[in-house]
Amino acid sequence: MADLAQDFHGKRALVTGGASGIGAATAELIHRRGATVVIADVDASRGEALAARLGGRAVFAALDVTDEGAWLRLDEELGAEGGLQVLVHSAGIAYKASIEHTSLGDFRRILDVNLVGTFLALSAASRLVTAGGAVALLSSVRGVLATAELGAYGASKFGVRALGRVAALEFAERGIRVNSVCPGSIVTPIQAAPGFQDDDMDAYVNSIPLRRRGTPEEVAEAIAYLVGDQSGYVTGSEFVIDGGMAAGRTTPKVQR
Ligand code: NAI
Repeated sequence: MADLAQDFHGKRALVTGGASGIGAATAELIHRRGATVVIADVDASRGEALAARLGGRAVFAALDVTDEGAWLRLDEELGAEGGLQVLVHSAGIAYKASIEHTSLGDFRRILDVNLVGTFLALSAASRLVTAGGAVALLSSVRGVLATAELGAYGASKFGVRALGRVAALEFAERGIRVNSVCPGSIVTPIQAAPGFQDDDMDAYVNSIPLRRRGTPEEVAEAIAYLVGDQSGYVTGSEFVIDGGMAAGRTTPKVQR
């Protein structure tokens, strides 16, 4: 028998950052479960290709999440079509450098995309998401644990959790739920960002309790739960999906 709690038929979803990685995996998963999906991204070629591959019920919309005017134009289109039941805000960028080596311009650029973008997404959600709908934000385990050399990124992702909780409180009376997802290290193109090239990936993977990086599909399953009817009593929460990284420290083994 079909599991109706996992059923997205009759729901329209907007997925920002939907052209790649976690956003693309989420768009694909909820589309497969019946949603009509608007894939919104600055990367038109990948976004259009994904929409074409998914076929009916999937469209691409050009959106720079830092551009308020672009959000308002999207509002008009989506509002005229009856609004949204789901908003997944996955657009984001990464940057790794110590505070000493981070320019003000780079700091502002990361905050602009990751945190101002989240504010504008929640602002759009307040206008577009209909009663009973749900929003998922992408924070990070780096928004839970402070990490050296991830000052700008970490500040933006701590901020995402804060905004998510505030929105959960404010939207609750309309029956709109807001939750954040905090992934650990997930294999996507984002880690080609400046500063990550010199990382010792083997040592890094060994520091993860489950001894592997995660997949976008694994994060998409958590997001689908949080924006689906199965999580009807979950709001203002943060779902950590990180192979155990945030659980605590493991004791280093003594080499004998
Ligand atoms: P990705 O690089 O594969 O996808 C990010 C998407 O966001 C891209 O399609 C990109 O074009 C889009 N984007 C970037 N700036 C944009 C803007 N101004 N407006 C609209 N779209 C924009 O990265 P991934 O890994 O899928 O990341 C998705 C979210 O998950 C991000 O917010 C990221 O910070 C977060 N995250 C990722 C982790 C990972 O290890 N991959 C871990 C924790 C959080």
